[in-house]
Amino acid sequence: MAFEKICTLDDVWEGDMDAFETSCGTAVLVLGVDGGDLKAFQAICPHQEIELVEGEFDGKVLTCKAHLWQFDTSNGQGLNPTDCQIAAYPIKIEGEDVFVDVEGIEPFTAHS
Ligand code: FES
Repeated sequence: MAFEKICTLDDVWEGDMDAFETSCGTAVLVLGVDGGDLKAFQAICPHQEIELVEGEFDGKVLTCKAHLWQFDTSNGQGLNPTDCQIAAYPIKIEGEDVFVDVEGIEPFTAHS
């Protein structure tokens, strides 16, 4: 496990999202889901190479702006279509700092 600091609690509020990059260049989307937890997922849509941060997030469901694929941000599972998902990264918080571990986790891709 190799957690590294990716942002602070102040960077992502509940109902908000932002994209960050790890030291090895992995793009990570951090979301403040309803209830106040933070979640971290791959930042690029598994459909085509669109940045998910440019989409919509309502606190529960993430919608890609390009073709409106939707993902459940409690677990990354595809809602529409259901046969896709986004990779979740372990996340932990220490004080005000947010850490993720992307080691060994590959982003999902789907044929278009
Ligand atoms: S690129 Fe995201 S839905 Fe098509």
